[in-house]
Amino acid sequence: MRIIAFFLALGLFIFNNTVQADEGMWIPLYLGDLNEAEMQKLGMRITAEDIFSINQPSLKDAVVIFGGGCTAEIVSDEGLILTNHHCGYGRIQAHSSLEHDYLTDGFWAMNRSEELANPGLTVTLLVRMEDVTGRVLEGVDASMSEHVRDMAIRKNIENIEKDAVGDSHYEASVVAFFHGNQYFLFINEVFRDIRLVGAPPSSIGKFGGDTDNWMWPRHTGDFSVFRIYAGPDNKPADYSSENIPYHPKSKMNISLRGVSEGDFTFVFGYPGRTQQYVPSFAVDMQVNTINPARIAIRSEKLDIYEQAMNKDAVIRIQYAAKQAGLANGWKKWIGENRGILRLNEIENKQSEEAGFLRWTHNSPEGEPYQELFREFKSAYEAYKPLANSAIYLNEAGFGPEIIRFAGSFGDLVDISKDPQGGDKWQEEVSRLEKNTTQFFKNFNADVDRKVFASLLSIYHENILPEDQPAVLIDMASMYQMDFQAFADEIFDRTIFSRESAVSDLLESYSPNRSKKIEKDPVYKLARGFRDHYMKHLREEMQYLDNKIDSLQRLYMAGLMKMSQEGRFYPDANSTLRISYGQVKPYYPADATFYDYFTTLEGIMEKEDPDIFDYAVDDELKELYQRKDYGRFADKDGTMHTCFIATCHTTGGNSGSPVLDADGNLIGLNFDRCWEGTMSDIIYDPERCRNIVLDIRYCLFVIDKLAGAGHLLEEMTFIE
Ligand code: ARG
Ligand code: GLU
Repeated sequence: MRIIAFFLALGLFIFNNTVQADEGMWIPLYLGDLNEAEMQKLGMRITAEDIFSINQPSLKDAVVIFGGGCTAEIVSDEGLILTNHHCGYGRIQAHSSLEHDYLTDGFWAMNRSEELANPGLTVTLLVRMEDVTGRVLEGVDASMSEHVRDMAIRKNIENIEKDAVGDSHYEASVVAFFHGNQYFLFINEVFRDIRLVGAPPSSIGKFGGDTDNWMWPRHTGDFSVFRIYAGPDNKPADYSSENIPYHPKSKMNISLRGVSEGDFTFVFGYPGRTQQYVPSFAVDMQVNTINPARIAIRSEKLDIYEQAMNKDAVIRIQYAAKQAGLANGWKKWIGENRGILRLNEIENKQSEEAGFLRWTHNSPEGEPYQELFREFKSAYEAYKPLANSAIYLNEAGFGPEIIRFAGSFGDLVDISKDPQGGDKWQEEVSRLEKNTTQFFKNFNADVDRKVFASLLSIYHENILPEDQPAVLIDMASMYQMDFQAFADEIFDRTIFSRESAVSDLLESYSPNRSKKIEKDPVYKLARGFRDHYMKHLREEMQYLDNKIDSLQRLYMAGLMKMSQEGRFYPDANSTLRISYGQVKPYYPADATFYDYFTTLEGIMEKEDPDIFDYAVDDELKELYQRKDYGRFADKDGTMHTCFIATCHTTGGNSGSPVLDADGNLIGLNFDRCWEGTMSDIIYDPERCRNIVLDIRYCLFVIDKLAGAGHLLEEMTFIE
């Protein structure tokens, strides 16, 4: 009896273990071999080939990189794409002014001619990927120094990329996986004419703002709509009025059926960066050095921005995107630290490392790894103070916008003084002229003066005097280290606080005027910070970075060797991945239960006219009162807004398609729950949840609120 019970328990355990597949960001090329069976066991009704096929159109042809850091999906044969509101935010802001405030009021193109161009914005489609490890490591052997090895690899990669592109219009990039143990070649098609089609008002697209950011329960209608345009041959082209909507190989069909607890679901997108396999020393540095510094500095800066934004509508528009970006990282790091401390992750890693070390001594294969932790330890010990200095330099020293801006004149100065510079300075001047207009559009000198006083004083207090640029100490001493007085005077004296002064300089520029820049006090500071970095931080950090990279490569290889039959997924590296799991509620804290979906009722409950983040759109309220949800209502009669699932996601997954068991689109990924933001380092199935905008809420807003129902006619629905 006992034995049977034991086996039953074991069987159950194994069964549970194989269906409980929440952790992992898997490589689409290996889905058939590594994941398909498990995905189907969890409820998936399609095949790996339907998701990612080498030979025929598949879902992958409808997933794109949006701009530099988000994902989007193609939902029509006319190149229409959906991504998050926060991914389109910078673009929506760029089209906004007090007269046309698309951030506040939303924007909808009612026909193709009203769609707005976005210079510089690209959409990237994966054509194919291929394992090129053999070719990348050709001629590389274990006796090589890290530097020589690196050069050999770089050379090989260059050749592979050149070969792959040939004379096609494609772009190629080779990317390292498993910390340099495997390499893949990606062939991409990059579209350059991407137009804004629509965005809801921020009271919907950013509902809850930074108050709710990273949190569940959530009610954000976080979407925006764009369209890919191509040349008449359907290939990428620069913006032109002759361009036509792109005809994709594949598009996503949209399910209106909604989700239930336990449903299988997957996310298909471009997660940016995770660190699942780093040693305890790295986690310790993150939690105890890097995060606390970043959090402290940004808290100060955010306070200043927010006070100014609350008082002035122009400043609110000017600083909206900057503030959102700062606040996003700030809040994530706070959540990450809490999660890691709660899970005792440093201690857990230490005991895993003890196990690994035992293996290195007990197994004939373990020998090359025996010194790993000793070396990791000394590398991280040396790295920690440098990382701290670098964070203070970057976040506080370069925290005032004006210092960064003045610093951007460094190349002009260098070219002007270079006897071989010729007339290169003219090009640089016209680049700076463009930048200057851009910069001042979103700059307020009074706000930045406060930031200057506060952040430079934080920098000065937290960094040892001998590790600070001398020019900072010299200048601040003239004001008895009173940084407010320092800021007040320097903002009056510098040319970089006034657009007219900078434009005048550039308009009448000639190389002998570089002295005027060099004499400027803010430029001197910028140069001081930069030189300090170059002289005292850069080389040593690069050396240690390389050292740590090579140790990490070895450690990764060792981990894979140790657990022969284990299944590994590589850390995120901004390449296409699949995460899968289930729609599932969770317990965020003792005795607290969070259900798996939210509804419009929740928006009405949160409404608070005194809190900017909780203002509710009037038209939305009307639709709510009339319960006018049409075919977008859930079967329970309410309007579902968001839901959560156990898929393992990270930054970059924003805007990713969230699909159901049949491969139909059910939502847009846009966030993670705060209790689970440590999942970049350690995934906890109990508390890690991705947050998804229910596609039906998105369609409801487009159709009923924006009156842009014509867009829905391009889409295919599964009812
Ligand atoms: N936390 C989400 C992400 O990392 C959303 C950020 C944008 N929203 C905001 N309120 N700042 O991108
Ligand atoms: N909001 C994130 C993004 O921009 C996704 C949330 C996350 O980090 O998981 O990609």
